[in-house]
Amino acid sequence: MKIETYEGSLQELQADVLVLILDRQNELFDLDNEGLQERVAGAKDQFSSGKLSRELTFAPKDLEVDTVLVYHSDLEKNYGFWENLKTFAARAIRFGAETGRPRVAFALNSEAGLEHVSKIVEGLVLGSYTFEKYRQKPRKLFEDSVAVIWTSNSEEAQKQIDLSRVLCEATNGTRDLVNESASVITPAALVRKAQDLAASHSLQVDTWDTARLTQERMVGLLAVGAGSEHPPFMVSLSYQPESPSDVHLVLVGKGVTFDTGGISIKPAEKMHLMRGDMAGAAAVLGAMDIIGQLKPSIRVTAIVVTAENSPDGKAMRPGDILSYRNGKSVHIENTDAEGRLILADGLIHAGDIGATHIVDVATLTGAAVRALGYSFTGIMGNNRTLINAVTRAGGNHGEAYWKLPLPAEYKEYIKSSVADINNLGGPVAGATTAALFLQEFVPDGAKWAHLDIAPTFWKEKPWKYFGEGASGVAARTLADLAVNWTENTAR
Ligand code: BES
Ligand code: ZN
Ligand code: ZN
Repeated sequence: MKIETYEGSLQELQADVLVLILDRQNELFDLDNEGLQERVAGAKDQFSSGKLSRELTFAPKDLEVDTVLVYHSDLEKNYGFWENLKTFAARAIRFGAETGRPRVAFALNSEAGLEHVSKIVEGLVLGSYTFEKYRQKPRKLFEDSVAVIWTSNSEEAQKQIDLSRVLCEATNGTRDLVNESASVITPAALVRKAQDLAASHSLQVDTWDTARLTQERMVGLLAVGAGSEHPPFMVSLSYQPESPSDVHLVLVGKGVTFDTGGISIKPAEKMHLMRGDMAGAAAVLGAMDIIGQLKPSIRVTAIVVTAENSPDGKAMRPGDILSYRNGKSVHIENTDAEGRLILADGLIHAGDIGATHIVDVATLTGAAVRALGYSFTGIMGNNRTLINAVTRAGGNHGEAYWKLPLPAEYKEYIKSSVADINNLGGPVAGATTAALFLQEFVPDGAKWAHLDIAPTFWKEKPWKYFGEGASGVAARTLADLAVNWTENTAR
């Protein structure tokens, strides 16, 4: 999709559709046309009285525009203004594409309008994403679409367009990885993806194969990957700012390319979604794609821990005991609680490379889905400032995090009678006991936050500006965390 800016008059604006978004607090545009102004004032009343329940369309007089499309943020009371802008942008470009009106202009020519260009672009780029690769006839709905940003400051608008495009195209890349089949996105394929990113953005990449994992005693990856034809890997991707930084942020992503549950096998229903059990890894790779382009002032490393969890004669078994490199032993009660086993290796490695701050991202527990539903990512950790920073970074992009408790009291649930800890918690607080397990592997002194994206990595039905399928959650949050580090970590 092309996104252009236009700085001229309304009279000369050439478009099939002109989109006007109304809001009680924000005047996004300034219409130098009395007839149109009157019509919009009338629409405001109709929206308030409930007469208009979705949108208003009409053909304007004396303009080069075919159709005016009006939305009001009162129509979407569940969400904030920024989210509504994105939803309306996504709806408008779709309306245009489906009705043979591909050139869609957005009226943002006021001061408030200029401030919100990036939100419109986010709605356009995320809202026009679909996964078409396997269709005989891929749908090319947005092929001819052109979005025109009608602005009073093209230069500033263009800056926002460019920035938002970087963020959202990387997010769509994350979505592609998660939507793709597990036969294609194997652990080796995630490694190749990391290597490609390293090549395009001059990042350092370090890949550990089975031999190296064995040498380094990365026992979680080796055990979880033991039942698969596709061997496990740990790959780290590093960004180094020009001037040295005291902060070394390490992002650890769960990359289980398919989670059958292993010997503790899952039921067949919905198992296909477990191709998305690498969404944490895809998110940290997406974040590095953005970070490599926006070049923040802090050091950032992504560690992808990746394996396929399959049942097999060589697979790990319930009752096995793993001795980790940090000295802790783990009893495997259930081979389906595999994410924490490989993340433990990643957390240990984060300590080795000098992490000051660690954020891990994982589709970790069904319990988080039961606690939070599909709209919130669970967040836990050992440092309030870091948790708030992630939450704030997410808030800049409509990604919502909700803090769950992490009390030492519940360590009771991960006790084992034969090893230091058990990989399965008790019958309650599953998201918390999984995080308590991870905490055992957080290096001393590191500030740590854990994001359980099991609730949010997948949309079963369209939601806001997202279509069905992978959401790309956390890529923008993590990039924003790094890029706006000072603002995000200020209390
Ligand atoms: N990958 C799953 C968690 C998951 C569930 C992600 C639903 C996305 C959607 C994880 O490896 C798992 O199987 N967790 C088990 C843990 C249990 C065995 C302690 C779960 O949540 O049931
Ligand atoms: Zn599992
Ligand atoms: Zn899993």
